[in-house]
Amino acid sequence: MQPDLRTSWNIGPVEIPTRLVLAPMAGVSVQAFRRQGRRFGAGLVCSEMVSCAGLEHRNERTLGYLRVASDEHPLAIQIFGSDPAVMADAARMVEAAGADLVDINFGCPVRKVTKTGAGATLLEDPDRACRIVAAVAGAVSVPVSVKMRRGLEDGSRACLAVGPRLVEAGAASLTLHPRSAKQMYTGTADHALTAELVDAVDVPVIASGDISSRARAQAVLAGTGAAAVMVGRAAQGNPWALREIVDAENGEPSREEVAAELIMFVRETVRELGERRAVGFLKKFYGWYLGRGRFPRPFKQELVLLDTTAEVERRLLAAAPGAAALVERLEDELSQADEILLDMPISIYGGG
Ligand SMILES: Cc1cc2nc3c(=O)[nH]c(=O)nc-3n(C[C@H](O)[C@H](O)[C@H](O)COP(=O)(O)O)c2cc1C
Repeated sequence: MQPDLRTSWNIGPVEIPTRLVLAPMAGVSVQAFRRQGRRFGAGLVCSEMVSCAGLEHRNERTLGYLRVASDEHPLAIQIFGSDPAVMADAARMVEAAGADLVDINFGCPVRKVTKTGAGATLLEDPDRACRIVAAVAGAVSVPVSVKMRRGLEDGSRACLAVGPRLVEAGAASLTLHPRSAKQMYTGTADHALTAELVDAVDVPVIASGDISSRARAQAVLAGTGAAAVMVGRAAQGNPWALREIVDAENGEPSREEVAAELIMFVRETVRELGERRAVGFLKKFYGWYLGRGRFPRPFKQELVLLDTTAEVERRLLAAAPGAAALVERLEDELSQADEILLDMPISIYGGG
């Protein structure tokens, strides 16, 4: 029998309603992405990786990553760093901000991160990795999870040696993206390793890497025994992929639906980042949403060149006038949650 993705499971006391987790992606996983992911079937969403040093120094932009909306739960906020005490402090802030889980990044392959001893390098420094997990788990009452790669070098099996130790140190769940750090995103994710990790630990394992269809999700769940699959790149500008994976609903969205979702995404991102930052941030999303033959290429290029999001919205509505009614309906549906957007507790700012 094929695994049913619409069944719930748990990480510790946190109940997760579906077997699909939306991947943390730096420069992508803004609140609009996460809320949209929940609407389209993700059972758990995750922030992009947040620097524990940035939190320690109360960097304003870093603190912005801790903003949690009421309709995102369950939500994991991911932190990265190499100092157990600083990571523990960061975890306390993440818990205070309202996250249901603290996720630790032992997978980032980017040099800017690895050269500080954080991210994937910790797979080669298991003692420190375990100290970080123990410090974080001891600092918060929400469950702590870890996301990792297979190891640093191609063919590495470091994750299998480190994984059980991280669980012993307090990790309540492990996510494996079975590529090496050196591979970055080349080659394929080797989920035979995920199956081995599932056998080696007694906590839920989430399988990440190259899951872009329902058939693939079911094959990976059945072949590995993982509790859930994580979807990253396939969901960029394409929340309909999540619906297809979870619910087998695989109709291509209409132009109006695409334009409406993109307009909502733009509006929410402006609210989160402000117009100036949002204009640059959103450019990559235009290609992602409007590609796949949905809109002509010159139209995407036009949008990228525009200076204001109001003008982007105007062009989208001109290209797909029926989107206006859909946007109105979505705004109505979502406004309730908008109103109770949680602001960060004042203590997080170190204020009075
Ligand atoms: C643009 C981008 C940013 C990413 N940022 C993060 C991150 O902040 N934290 C993390 O643990 N993984 C990050 N990843 C890795 C993804 O979470 C995921 O493990 C990987 O993309 C493989 O899954 P996919 O094939 O479904 O994309 C990132 C991936 C991409 C493409």
